[in-house]
Amino acid sequence: MIEIAILGFGTVGSGVAKVIDKNAAEIQRKIPEGVHVKYILDLRDFPDSPYADRVVHDYDVIVNDPEIKVICETMGGMEPAFSFSKRALEKGISVCTSNKELVAEHGPELLRLAKEHSCSYQFEASVGGGIPIIRPMVSALAQEKITSIIGILNGTTNYILSRMESEGADFEEMLHIAQEKGYAERNPEADVEGHDCCRKIAILSSLMCGQTVRYEDVPCEGVSAISALDFAYAKQMNMSIKLLGISRRNEKEGTFYVITAPFLVPEDHPLYSVSGVYNAVYLHGNMVDNLMFYGKGAGKYPTASAVVADVLDCAAHQGETVGCVWEDKVVELTDVNRDWRRMFVRLDISERVLAEELFGDDIVEVRAEAAVDEFAFMTAPISEEAYAEKAAQLTTIKSRIRVLEEK
Ligand code: HSE
Repeated sequence: MIEIAILGFGTVGSGVAKVIDKNAAEIQRKIPEGVHVKYILDLRDFPDSPYADRVVHDYDVIVNDPEIKVICETMGGMEPAFSFSKRALEKGISVCTSNKELVAEHGPELLRLAKEHSCSYQFEASVGGGIPIIRPMVSALAQEKITSIIGILNGTTNYILSRMESEGADFEEMLHIAQEKGYAERNPEADVEGHDCCRKIAILSSLMCGQTVRYEDVPCEGVSAISALDFAYAKQMNMSIKLLGISRRNEKEGTFYVITAPFLVPEDHPLYSVSGVYNAVYLHGNMVDNLMFYGKGAGKYPTASAVVADVLDCAAHQGETVGCVWEDKVVELTDVNRDWRRMFVRLDISERVLAEELFGDDIVEVRAEAAVDEFAFMTAPISEEAYAEKAAQLTTIKSRIRVLEEK
């Protein structure tokens, strides 16, 4: 048996135990000796759980047990997850995690530590929940030069935006429903303000270039300002509105652009119909062309399944380091002001003439039945910088949403 331990017996941690139990036969096909959960670390006891006898409260018991080969870190947050992960890797115990905060902040350091101690640090579940995206990127696509990634990477906001679209409801109403259903946290800031998506696109971008894209450097806008009226206009334009993480490499110019923001997504784009709690990652490789990965981006079993996939990989490669190349060197991102795209703008009718003067003849007016006393238009492709200069002369802009131009 490959003995493992689970740190944190919450939603994902208890899901890991369940996947290992329920799919023991499938797991045994890959790891003939089987995988066994020897310890569960948690502050709580679980007297009614079938795993009650494996719960420990002292991490030393786990990390000092020579039988433990893999640790699943499903605690989340920075500490003590970071210290626990480091101590395991220093002892040659592989670590598999769903913790995107920790991966985005300390990924290269933990990967280096794993390499130094001939074990692995794996994090398939940190991006896209149950969608296999990390392993395909570092393995099946290792030969590719990945040139762009566009991701719907946050299930909570995609659920809220999808329901706003289908029901004509406003953001606050749908956030409340998402919280009641358990999709959104009581403190939803990390999701709705885009920070969660930002960490995930930073992780994927780092894998794309093998160096560090710091999430703090990625321009980040959330979705809390998106309204029912924005969706009414989007419908008129045959578009949807999605929170996207975008990463784009321009080989000729030597630039690397990353952003997290709500985008208008045209109906003919494959991401248009990704709705509800589903996530999708649409990427372009220079040889393979476009690929799309789609699935449940959150939830107990999809996320736990991805953690267990990492466990099996580590178990199959004991004494070796498997995974990705991700160096410490920080990637300098292109100033977002240099990016070009169309912008959808709504402002008070009183500024129509001034807006037309500023943005010129190329703008296209957009109408929505429910709109009152406002002027809405789509600009021609414009740089962010030029847009900002013109917009600064207008005082009544109610909404500005970028258009996804990447194919
Ligand atoms: N809060 C995250 C989401 C959970 O909604 O996508 C999965 O990372």
